[in-house]
Amino acid sequence: MADPYVRFANSELGRRIVGAVGLPSPARLERWHSQRQREVEGALLVGGGPLAIDVAGWAAGFAEAVYSVPPLDPATPAWSQDQGQRPKAVVYDASALRTPAELQQLMAFFQPLLRALEPCARVVILGTAEEALSDPIARVTQRALEGFSRSLAKELRDGGTAQLLYVAEGAKDQVEGALRFLLSPKSAYVSGQVLTLRPAAVHTTQWPRPLEGQRALVTGAARGIGAAIAETLARDGAKVVLLDVPQAHAELAALAARLGASALNLDITSSEAASELLAALPEGVDIVVHNAGITRDKTLANMTPEFWDPVIAVNLEAPLRLTQALIEHKALGPAPRIVLLSSVTGIAGNRGQANYAAAKAGLIGFAEAMAEPLAAQGGSIVTVAPGFIETNMTDRMPFALREAGRRMSALGQGGQPQDVAEAVAWLAQPGAAALNGQVLRVCGQSFMGA
Ligand SMILES: NC(=O)c1ccc[n+]([C@@H]2O[C@H](COP(=O)([O-])OP(=O)(O)OC[C@H]3O[C@@H](n4cnc5c(N)ncnc54)[C@H](O)[C@@H]3O)[C@@H](O)[C@H]2O)c1
Repeated sequence: MADPYVRFANSELGRRIVGAVGLPSPARLERWHSQRQREVEGALLVGGGPLAIDVAGWAAGFAEAVYSVPPLDPATPAWSQDQGQRPKAVVYDASALRTPAELQQLMAFFQPLLRALEPCARVVILGTAEEALSDPIARVTQRALEGFSRSLAKELRDGGTAQLLYVAEGAKDQVEGALRFLLSPKSAYVSGQVLTLRPAAVHTTQWPRPLEGQRALVTGAARGIGAAIAETLARDGAKVVLLDVPQAHAELAALAARLGASALNLDITSSEAASELLAALPEGVDIVVHNAGITRDKTLANMTPEFWDPVIAVNLEAPLRLTQALIEHKALGPAPRIVLLSSVTGIAGNRGQANYAAAKAGLIGFAEAMAEPLAAQGGSIVTVAPGFIETNMTDRMPFALREAGRRMSALGQGGQPQDVAEAVAWLAQPGAAALNGQVLRVCGQSFMGA
């Protein structure tokens, strides 16, 4: 599925018309492709507090060139506006800011950069997680970073994105893995997000195939987001089992053949689903992606059990039941990772989608409730909440709603299945343990529920 307006707005004629009439001009987003060598193809600029030196060290492994403001050490040349490359990525360590007056350092650092960035630039601000701060003024100051980073994300042009990453005490070793995702085109449709990295014993170390040898299950894998997830997990080294309803047999078999994966035709709401799944996974599974989902939209006034029940059954009850079965039968490998596909609708609610929103909000609660037991095994359970993604599901929407869904985000366009898949693949890495229980929106900073 494509968004023809993005193509038009980026054509020569389209640019002129869009500029003259004042229409939205969504950028053509850069995405990851197999020929890329590094996460940052271009200059990475680091600045701010004590973590800047660590970032410069890690970045040598994934950025083409690293600069700093102010000068950090002899290995990291100073950047200035008149000389040196335009930054493709920026990391600013704000973790040492402790008073509201010090927040002005953010303005001083970012203002000269705003017109100097490359298209599709990536910005990450690092902060200190609140549990490490006992002084209320310091907590207030760190909390202020949320408003700043989300506003910065809305002011960046040409497909630029910005995120805030709070780092808890003892979690510094998890920052590199997060930066490799958030500074690369893999996070093209992730913007205005706030995440906290917490200490975890496991890390992602095997670049560039971080899932090598891992066994993964993806439900709803025959098409759309699920097919993209399966493809991306396989690209990153996982052995994938693709699951979808028996009616999707042909698409599932074709994808399985292409990826060297195995296919499992199963309705996840059937009474035998758990036993058939366990039988199909005799060696267990390390990564479980609960992606299968359906919508049956009706306003609450017109809702009937025929619309309500299947949505709750597929989107919420089946992931709960299947996860429980995998845990009870010890079918999850050591340090298992579970990723749940929620939706921004589950965060914001949506007219005509009370059933779907309830199910998708329930998944966020599921991750929060299960985070502790999974952490005890070195594992994690996290939720990905996509915004408007170009798939069969959104293609069925009425034209006006579809257009509104596409444009009502800071990036002014819908995302691609690959954008969600890249986020899931990141959260399927061992380092996801640092994000256990959290929600990552992949929504182009959608205005819904933001
Ligand atoms: N497309 C979007 O904009 C969007 C936004 C937010 C969240 N999501 C979520 O992302 C996930 C994937 O969405 P999509 O757009 O790719 O949808 P899609 O309709 O294109 O694909 C969903 C897949 O799930 C399978 N499925 C449905 N019921 C099943 C069942 N009972 N057992 C096994 N498989 C079943 C379908 O056969 C299909 O292959 C869903 O959970 C959806 O709610 C999508």
